[in-house]
Amino acid sequence: MIDADLAIVDAAELVTVRGGAPRRGASQGDLGIIERGCLAAQDGLIVFVGDERDYRRQVRLLRKGIEIDATGRTVLPGFVDPHTHLPFAGSREREFEQRLQGAAYEEIASRGGGILATVEATRRASYDALVELGKSRLNRMLLHGTTTAEAKSGYGLTLEDELKQLRVVRALDSIHPIDLVPTFLGAHAVPRERRHERDAYVQEIVDRMIPEVAREGLARFCDVFVEEIAFTPREAERVLKAAAEHGLGLRVHADQLRDGGGAALAARLGAIAADHLEHTGEEGIRALAASGTDAVLLPGAAFFLRRRLAGLGRRLVDARVPVALGTDFNPGTCPTEAMTAILPLACLDGGLSPAEAIVAATLNAAHALGLAERVGSLEAGKEADAQVLAVPHHLHLVYHFGDSHGRTVVKRGRVVVEEGAIAGTAGGPLSGTGATDKPSGGF
Ligand code: NIG
Ligand code: FE
Repeated sequence: MIDADLAIVDAAELVTVRGGAPRRGASQGDLGIIERGCLAAQDGLIVFVGDERDYRRQVRLLRKGIEIDATGRTVLPGFVDPHTHLPFAGSREREFEQRLQGAAYEEIASRGGGILATVEATRRASYDALVELGKSRLNRMLLHGTTTAEAKSGYGLTLEDELKQLRVVRALDSIHPIDLVPTFLGAHAVPRERRHERDAYVQEIVDRMIPEVAREGLARFCDVFVEEIAFTPREAERVLKAAAEHGLGLRVHADQLRDGGGAALAARLGAIAADHLEHTGEEGIRALAASGTDAVLLPGAAFFLRRRLAGLGRRLVDARVPVALGTDFNPGTCPTEAMTAILPLACLDGGLSPAEAIVAATLNAAHALGLAERVGSLEAGKEADAQVLAVPHHLHLVYHFGDSHGRTVVKRGRVVVEEGAIAGTAGGPLSGTGATDKPSGGF
């Protein structure tokens, strides 16, 4: 018999997403569904996945073990969000209003708003304030089923302020159930005070910031915003090569506002992922397909900037590029923590099927963070990160959009959300951070 301290039993659909990663082409939509499915875990790791009959025969639930009845429900892996700008202060609802009245994102940025407005607010915020803000955001993520997330710096843009953001991410990772993967994004924008010496700023990233971030072990990845309003492909290459020399993995904000060769650059440098890709042309898609670089689509940012993906997901899957999905959670282009908001957009605008979108938000997203061996699917040996939805079929996740589906979330074998509410806040690691807390002046 297999001993277990947690079991989820009798699911109408147990969506395992089992099998190798990443999924591409025809296998992008391969969900590996088990009907009347059961999952058992011990000490945070999955020890059994199978049907009801085998579960009864093979698994023994320990005396203090928890059994979750998933009859009539759908069980999925916890979402992995491979692209967030988590540690920031302030909010930009006025810019949102201006954009609704016709102002362009680039225009607002060139007036000193946009990223630089959030840089000012984030520099002013204390480490403790950023940790508090981070906790409420992570709680909202958890309520929407995210159990692992990437988190970028990039609103500091000085050595000290970038380190502050990354230390906040490290603290949040240790106190909150969601696992965080830190990314250094010093090349997010040229800071206002360095606008006449951009070359010196890039050199400072290479000579001082990357070595210090690597020395303190504060980031696993380095990202660059390759765009006319940010950094050129040549500047990005300088930064990314230095990052690789210091042992950091590479990611790129590519072709978000126009096709600037970002995807091709990411492929050529062996980046683990190229993100956005709203304007990537045929050449960029071919470069990705020929490389080991994953595509991370961020349909929430496209939607929020009133741009269209127009079937981009479909084109990438057809070209056999592994597609992942993320929120791009940030105060400018996508102020939502909810992966549940992203999947419908990926289908309706990106052209993915619901099954492809689920793979993109779980196993492929884990692969885009280098974590596919640990999370992203429900298979023996992996971490027990799962969500139980009060719906009988996975299609409801996309079809009945905007609902929370009475979600229960399990992180590493522990129930952290119970039927739509954060579990065990009293005295636990989440105490004092009710999901709806909105520390003043931000969210
Ligand atoms: O991914 N594109 C660059 N960075 C963010 C936006 C950040 C902001 O507007 O504050 C993005 O969309
Ligand atoms: Fe982003």
